[in-house]
Amino acid sequence: MLIQILSLAQSKINAAVDIKQLQQIKVEFLGKQGVLTQEMKKLSALNEQERKIFGKEVNVIKQQIEELIVDKASILEEEELKERLIKERLDLTLPPKPLITGRMHPITQCTEELIQLFTSFGFTLKDGPNIEDDYHNFTALNMGINHPARQMHDTFYVEQGQKLLRTHTSPVQVRSMQVASPPYRFISVGRVYRADWDQTHTPMFHQIEGLVVDEQTNFGHLKSLLLQTIRTFFEQQICEIRFRPSFFPFTEPSAEVDIKLGDGARWLEVLGCGMVHPEVLKNANVDTEKYQGFAFGLGVERFAMLKYRIKDLRQFFDGDMRWLQHYSFLPFDIPTLAGGLTR
Ligand code: DAH
Repeated sequence: MLIQILSLAQSKINAAVDIKQLQQIKVEFLGKQGVLTQEMKKLSALNEQERKIFGKEVNVIKQQIEELIVDKASILEEEELKERLIKERLDLTLPPKPLITGRMHPITQCTEELIQLFTSFGFTLKDGPNIEDDYHNFTALNMGINHPARQMHDTFYVEQGQKLLRTHTSPVQVRSMQVASPPYRFISVGRVYRADWDQTHTPMFHQIEGLVVDEQTNFGHLKSLLLQTIRTFFEQQICEIRFRPSFFPFTEPSAEVDIKLGDGARWLEVLGCGMVHPEVLKNANVDTEKYQGFAFGLGVERFAMLKYRIKDLRQFFDGDMRWLQHYSFLPFDIPTLAGGLTR
């Protein structure tokens, strides 16, 4: 009887195809309701002599079945592992997915190039709000309520006559001077807004404003700074630079700077500048008997277009991926004076 149980268990164990089946066989023979457990229960009905012999036999069979199960389990586990290794094999011959990294917009690139230049000349960076008030955008810059220059700016008003989108970065001059005492030597970079849209105008563009105020600074310093800056920024591409007398309400005298890219090319206006008007200094509580200085404002898009030969200003903001791929720059290839400004 017991020997039959063993051979039955043996054939079932041999036939088991996976661990789950083996578990079921274990329960069938050795579990609480198992075949062998039922045999054990018969022990109580036997006398002492028989019990000894039968008990021993049952235990031997039980042990044998247990061993068979353990052996089979290790065979099955090995087979399963082999199968998994075959099924889950990595195909290393597949080409990798292309690595797509973001790129730097030419405006970001040029801004970074110019910041590198100006900081190397000892300028620090200042910031101001994009939503300005009428006072800082116009009045404090010597443009009173009825000043005709206000009309030239095509202002976007947020609150009629009060809050507006700044039309230039010059208000940062006033704000920064108001909160610190002279000397001043800073630039300010940012977006400016004017209601204009054609090949050379977009309703939003970028400017860099510069201000130097101390006891000695004169127009000669302004000229040499701008010459150095423009020559370094455009490298060998630039051929001539000229200062042309002009007018801004916040500078006196005022000038515009034109450059020529190669012989036979046209003169191109790239920035406005001048000696800071005493009224502007007064509005920022600077002692005009003691302090004087210069300011300048340049259009970043203009600089980028000339340096990287971009034809239409509006393309900067179209978000056309093909254009961006072509004119953008590698993110970790940061321009430095030592490493080179131009890409
Ligand atoms: N704010 C002027 C503009 O947007 C540019 C400018 C001209 C800024 C002369 C200056 C300056 O600081 O001195 O047209």
